[in-house]
Amino acid sequence: MPIPHTYSFARYLTAKKSVDDRALNQSVWQSLLAVLPRAIPEQPLQILEVGAGLGAMVERLVASGTLTHATYTAIDLEPGLIAEARRRLPQWATAQGWQVQQDSQAHARPGGHELHMQRPGQDIRVATEAVDVFRFIVREQGQRTWDLLMAQALLDLVDVPTTLPALLSLLRPGGLLYCPITFDGGTVFQPEVDLEFDVAIEAYYHQTMDRRLVAGKPSGDSRTGRHLFTHLQAAGVEVLAAGSSDWVVFAGPNGYAADEAYFLHFIIHTIHTALTGHPHLDAERLTAWIAQRHAQVEQGTLVYIAHQLDLLGRVSAPGGETRE
Ligand SMILES: C[S@@+](CC[C@H](N)C(=O)[O-])C[C@H]1O[C@@H](n2cnc3c(N)ncnc32)[C@H](O)[C@@H]1O
Repeated sequence: MPIPHTYSFARYLTAKKSVDDRALNQSVWQSLLAVLPRAIPEQPLQILEVGAGLGAMVERLVASGTLTHATYTAIDLEPGLIAEARRRLPQWATAQGWQVQQDSQAHARPGGHELHMQRPGQDIRVATEAVDVFRFIVREQGQRTWDLLMAQALLDLVDVPTTLPALLSLLRPGGLLYCPITFDGGTVFQPEVDLEFDVAIEAYYHQTMDRRLVAGKPSGDSRTGRHLFTHLQAAGVEVLAAGSSDWVVFAGPNGYAADEAYFLHFIIHTIHTALTGHPHLDAERLTAWIAQRHAQVEQGTLVYIAHQLDLLGRVSAPGGETRE
């Protein structure tokens, strides 16, 4: 595909789905499905996903066939992504044979929206909301708890030492935390174009993550995945399963899969944006490097690898209380 002139985050997330499907650690995923508490109609499983984007994980978890009775709350900061999730999810569910009803009055809260999906023996409600996770935590703390909290590709964008305990306060004792696709300090492009510069780009790009500020607060860590083990332990979470979920994107006999050429262009554009004006990178050399990487996508020669980790944990339960 030609180099895009403009970039859409929604299209990037859509393109990311096939990359994630290959990358997600199957052992951690199977562990998650195995430890999910059994739900009954009177006591549906309470699931919360933060930074849910377009709802890819809603589809993945529902498609696993594990959920029978569940209330799934999916929130994201970006109203445009939530609007798109509300448009796509009913279409997806209908195509999968679910009976679907939508209710925008389902919540007393303005802007609330619920998708009700039913199949024989299964009843799932998906509530979506555009809201900042930090506002959501303050609002819900002490009001409600969830059985499972999911954060896919989100924890590397926040300050984990302060965010994690706040997030965990939304889990009931013995609740589960699943955080897949957590970036862990590896950005690899092949073939090498200029080894010294390739190395510098990776280092400075990771540094932009480490130094990211949102509203004046530290918000990111390029080695979030490995650091999570310590953060989880400090927060009283027992790690039940962990494994790598590296993105590996390459062109096969039929070129890049699905919309993954766009995915690659978007990643290169993101790096370009992050490093433009960097005091230690020669501007012309950076422009040439970026152009060469885009060209490699067009030629189908670029291989991109990002190192990430999936973790599954359980918060401690006083007296070993768990829901079966
Ligand atoms: C890398 S994307 C991942 C989206 C989705 N989990 C996926 O993997 O397809 C990170 C998502 O987190 C959302 N996000 C970032 N900061 C947030 C915040 N403070 N509150 C809620 N969502 C946030 C972004 O809008 C974005 O959709």
